[in-house]
Amino acid sequence: MKILNVSDLKVFFHTEDGVVKAVNGVDLELNKKDKLGLLGESGSGKTILASSIVRLVHGNVKEEGKIEYKGKNMRNINSKELRKMRINEFGVIMQNPSSSLNPALNIGSQISEVFRIKENISKKEAIRKTVDLLNKVKISEPEKRIKEYPHQFSGGMKERAVIAMGIAGNPDFIIADEPTKGLDLIVKHSIVKLLQEVSRDKTIIIITHDLDVAEKVCNKIGMMYLGELVELGTAGEIFKKQYHPYSKAFFESTPSKGMKPIKGYSGSLIDVPRGCRFYNRCDYCMDICKEEHPPMIDVENDRKVRCFLYARD
Ligand SMILES: Nc1ncnc2c1ncn2[C@@H]1O[C@H](COP(=O)(O)OP(=O)(O)O)[C@@H](O)[C@H]1O
Ligand code: SF4
Ligand SMILES: [Mg+2]
Repeated sequence: MKILNVSDLKVFFHTEDGVVKAVNGVDLELNKKDKLGLLGESGSGKTILASSIVRLVHGNVKEEGKIEYKGKNMRNINSKELRKMRINEFGVIMQNPSSSLNPALNIGSQISEVFRIKENISKKEAIRKTVDLLNKVKISEPEKRIKEYPHQFSGGMKERAVIAMGIAGNPDFIIADEPTKGLDLIVKHSIVKLLQEVSRDKTIIIITHDLDVAEKVCNKIGMMYLGELVELGTAGEIFKKQYHPYSKAFFESTPSKGMKPIKGYSGSLIDVPRGCRFYNRCDYCMDICKEEHPPMIDVENDRKVRCFLYARD
């Protein structure tokens, strides 16, 4: 069953230096229980894409394109309905756990607040549910821990607390933005396991630089480059073989695949090249690549690639 249908999504920030085209024409469909890994270099638009889907982008911004969630047009939703959806439908696990947690409030009050808003229950009942939830995300001695403040938590525990806060409303759709960033290997593995468990019956977008995380959790992969998706397909197939030259270079640049740096720089989102956005870094660049913008091309088995190498006459 289709849960999300995004078409021609654009998110442009108006700044003093010019228009930052953070997301520029993204099409994406997700089915219920899909687990999409969004990969790509820093600044390619991953966070803004995911945030825009759940209407969380703020500032001097212009957003365009269709976002349909469970058949609802997310552009027509009023703020009251959106507030409800943020609790009942969307679980957003933000990039930096320290900034998602309020340093002045203990962990218990922050998480129990979600239950209070969602279920309109007593403080005591909400605390009981918070203890259960902390057990679920494997925070030991939760009765004691709920009274502690974020600074008393280790990096891994903060990530668990933020995941708990994200899933407290029992959302159908989760966004986890770099959930294992900065964690050591053992903690990372335990967070991956936790994400697998909590997302089992849910749709999730995981933004990550870590191929290991994407391979363990995701059934689909989207590669982003300079504000657009350049390759989209099933995780199993993409892990076997990447078609887009950028995807290949990205995979080869990761620690598990040899750490070969990608040559050149991704450039500015203000002055994006007219043709292929990757042309100045691509070993296969042809004349057409500098002049024309490649469309997403269906290659095989649900694989789409934005590259003229796969164009058929
Ligand atoms: N509020 C904003 N105003 C202007 N530019 C922004 C704003 N938020 C993000 N950007 C820009 O949008 C681009 C995409 O950012 P982001 O989605 O955070 O990248 P990623 O998550 O892939 O690292 C970046 O160039 C970033 O600087
Ligand atoms: S369209 Fe051309 S420049 Fe772009 S990735 Fe493909 S071959 Fe390289
Ligand atoms: Mg980001």
